[in-house]
Amino acid sequence: MRYIGNKTKLLSFIASYLDELDLYGGRALDAFAGTTAVARLLKARGFAVDTCDIMSLSYVFQRAYVVADEYPKFAGLADDADLRTAKLTPQFRLLVESRLRGQGDLFSGAPDLQPLEETLVYLDTYLEPLSSFIDLNFAASESPVEGQRMYFSRPNAQRIDAIRHKLHDWWSAGLVTEEEFFILLTALLEAADSVANTAGVYAAFVKAWQSNAMKPLRLCAPDIVVGTGLKCSAHCGDIVELVGRLGRLDLLYLDPPYNTRQYSAYYHVPELIAEGWFGAELPTLRGKTGLIDDSQKKSAWSTRDGCVPALEQLLQGVDATHVLLSYNNEGIIPEKEIESCFRRYGVPSTYRRTGREYKRYRADRDSDARQYSGDHVTEFLYYVRLR
Ligand SMILES: C[S@@+](CC[C@H](N)C(=O)[O-])C[C@H]1O[C@@H](n2cnc3c(N)ncnc32)[C@H](O)[C@@H]1O
Repeated sequence: MRYIGNKTKLLSFIASYLDELDLYGGRALDAFAGTTAVARLLKARGFAVDTCDIMSLSYVFQRAYVVADEYPKFAGLADDADLRTAKLTPQFRLLVESRLRGQGDLFSGAPDLQPLEETLVYLDTYLEPLSSFIDLNFAASESPVEGQRMYFSRPNAQRIDAIRHKLHDWWSAGLVTEEEFFILLTALLEAADSVANTAGVYAAFVKAWQSNAMKPLRLCAPDIVVGTGLKCSAHCGDIVELVGRLGRLDLLYLDPPYNTRQYSAYYHVPELIAEGWFGAELPTLRGKTGLIDDSQKKSAWSTRDGCVPALEQLLQGVDATHVLLSYNNEGIIPEKEIESCFRRYGVPSTYRRTGREYKRYRADRDSDARQYSGDHVTEFLYYVRLR
């Protein structure tokens, strides 16, 4: 998913720094997990990973991409009559085979991936579109009517609604396990983001249809890390409140927000899809972009007054051997504060910092061009060994 601050393009930088520090295996915490790009790297390096984030959408990713350790089998869906009927059609088998071939896995990994691809084919091709919360509130016609929020084309919004309702029904009826549910929800979040009519964040929709938004929504199998045997766990909430309860860690990896933009206001639409709208009351929406109540998700790390005390509290509360922090040269925590905090809570002689210049994430450049000097930022890794 397109996500501000995601570290996908910096993974080799982070991995080579972990190599340099000789950090493999043990127990790690990715405290600001976001898309889980770094948590997946840590799991692949043999760490049992705990993950945390204040956003529900990240919790969905954490469960699918980090906690799940095997491909879903969907045994419970044998009881779903519609799916059974769909499977009997000749087209169904052809679609599944073509998707498995597309994975390059028809012969090797096919048996493992087949139940997932079958379920995705059913959700992608056999569900009737449904006009529900996303269609009614976040979609517009091809020639939009005044007041419509142009986040999704109506056909895509109705497919998002149909799939989200079906996942909720399967979950409520106990037909899918928790991991199966989160893997399917991840596929939906990723697919919806790729057809969203935004410049990367949901703080605004683009006022004309972009080509990606006109493509039909397509679910793809999430790329999960399987067969490690590592016990990972996911958390949704404020890391400062959680960290004291986690016990001993070998590595604490920190990638907090860099600026004063609250993630909850930038990703409210995927957050809604992640949380659903199946409570006693429908979510209340505000303003032109349909913001939801995010009073519980405001982060001190995105405030100038709150970020340094939050870093201090976190380092004070954690029981870890190594701390690694990603932060860039435009972040709101002054570099001197990071250094002084790290030296105070860690072994001062072990403190170090390394940097790499990289191309700015597109949505940053689009929305805040005036504040920045160029197209490149320097991304730093700060390290200290704790006392
Ligand atoms: C820079 S992003 C992390 C990106 C992530 N490393 C990735 O590769 O996708 C910062 C994340 O911190 C989360 N966050 C902000 N305040 C938080 C808090 N108090 N506790 C936990 N997570 C928080 C945001 O929701 C956001 O996902």
